[in-house]
Amino acid sequence: MASSGSADLVIVANRLPVDRVTLPDGTQGWRQSPGGLVTAIEPILRANQGTWIGWPGGTETEDELEPFEDEGMNLVPMAMTADEVEDHYEGFSNATLWPLYHDVVAKPEFHREWWNSYSAVNRRFAERAAEEAAEGATVWVQDYQMQLVPQMLRELRPDLRIGFFLHIPFPPTELFQQLPWRRQILEGLLGADLVGFQLSGAAQNFVRLVRQRVGHKTHRDLVYLPDGRTVKAAAFPISIDSAGFEELARSEQVEERAVEIREQLGNPQKVFLGVDRLDYTKGIYARLRAFAELIEDGELDVGEAVFVQVATPSREQVEQYRILRDDIDRLVGRINGDLGRIGSPAISYLHASFPREEMAALYRAADVMVVTPFRDGMNLVAKEYVACRFDNDGALVLSEFAGAAEELRQAWQINPYDINGMKSALLDACRAEPRDVTRRMKAMRKQVMEHDVAAWADSFLAELGSLGKAHGKSVRP
Ligand code: ADP
Ligand code: F6P
Repeated sequence: MASSGSADLVIVANRLPVDRVTLPDGTQGWRQSPGGLVTAIEPILRANQGTWIGWPGGTETEDELEPFEDEGMNLVPMAMTADEVEDHYEGFSNATLWPLYHDVVAKPEFHREWWNSYSAVNRRFAERAAEEAAEGATVWVQDYQMQLVPQMLRELRPDLRIGFFLHIPFPPTELFQQLPWRRQILEGLLGADLVGFQLSGAAQNFVRLVRQRVGHKTHRDLVYLPDGRTVKAAAFPISIDSAGFEELARSEQVEERAVEIREQLGNPQKVFLGVDRLDYTKGIYARLRAFAELIEDGELDVGEAVFVQVATPSREQVEQYRILRDDIDRLVGRINGDLGRIGSPAISYLHASFPREEMAALYRAADVMVVTPFRDGMNLVAKEYVACRFDNDGALVLSEFAGAAEELRQAWQINPYDINGMKSALLDACRAEPRDVTRRMKAMRKQVMEHDVAAWADSFLAELGSLGKAHGKSVRP
């Protein structure tokens, strides 16, 4: 067994919650990393004075990066070489697993050198977690980039409680079977005591695959391993800091900024909003086309309706993402060129990452929030919008293929592949009677306010605590 460190709670994620960036004056600084994982895990780790092991972006070498403290979190930066960034991160994680796990919206590529790099990076992260974790500590491994870590870590440190949570969808068994390394991934995950998914269907797919492919005995949500260990697979739908978002939304500063945003847009009657990482799974192209067609059809007027699309650039070295960025740039240019008027573009398109206050102001300014992924593990943006609508107004148009659709049933749900259906829903949402809007929003708010990210972490860690080794220390959720 490897010797132990001092952390009672260790998060292992591909990324640190902050990215290393070069500031305008040429010095190095840190910026919050984009995406749902960071939004969800950061508050829990701060509350526990825990340690977070992850990549800070870029291609630094190990000796350039020292562990440091950031408001109650110990951050342990893990270097990646240029080859690892290309093969483990851009390659296996984001050009093999990401499309495969998202219903093959893009074609996954299978390359043996990518797999080798993924395994090597997972091993290094597992070794570092083994060094940092105290005797009997809890290690919570995050997401698809780290699926081999649980097993590797268990071999090094059998004393630990190990949890794993998959933030993205777990694919149907037929798609997962395509993966040449399917057995190794399943065995990697089985190193954990508890494997968490967003939806119960995903947990069931996993257990079925373990039975079929690895041959272990299973019963309902439990897997029985030959060494006597039991692994539980269950759903823990992730959420947001609901009260925090509501409080922000109620602040004078955010309220004033929301009014200002509407003024800057020319005080249109209806503001539609999309907020996403620039990712082909999010359905940005189809939603903008649907909006443009409504203008062409004469259903909406430029000047009276405007679509604000915020898209944070993401994974820009991966080909599919570059193609998407160009496609959307062209589409927005064409729509605004054809349909916009001086001072009134049909689409206001921003490639930017904003602070939480600005996000809350955008949510406050929007009459219709449009969330149309082809497949999404959960989608926190939908929940953030709901949390910010404290006066029970605002309409949510939501893809039935987002994990959030299971909880936000009162949204105007759409099939993002059906452009006409999406057009009707956009119109219905923006023309709905205030009473209908309020009824729907009230019900969705109840769900989001009562199931926040603290409750999510609480239930995962409590479940893990009840399954782990009897001598393990428990963690304050
Ligand atoms: P994913 O994890 O796939 O990126 P989610 O919708 O679950 O998708 O989470 C996205 C998170 O990133 C949300 O918390 C959202 O507020 C944040 N986010 C998305 N776009 C931006 C942006 N342009 N600026 C700041 N935060 C953003
Ligand atoms: O869960 C989706 C996810 O891959 C997270 O791991 C991460 O928070 C987010 O998307 C951003 O992705 P990346 O780390 O590749 O920029």
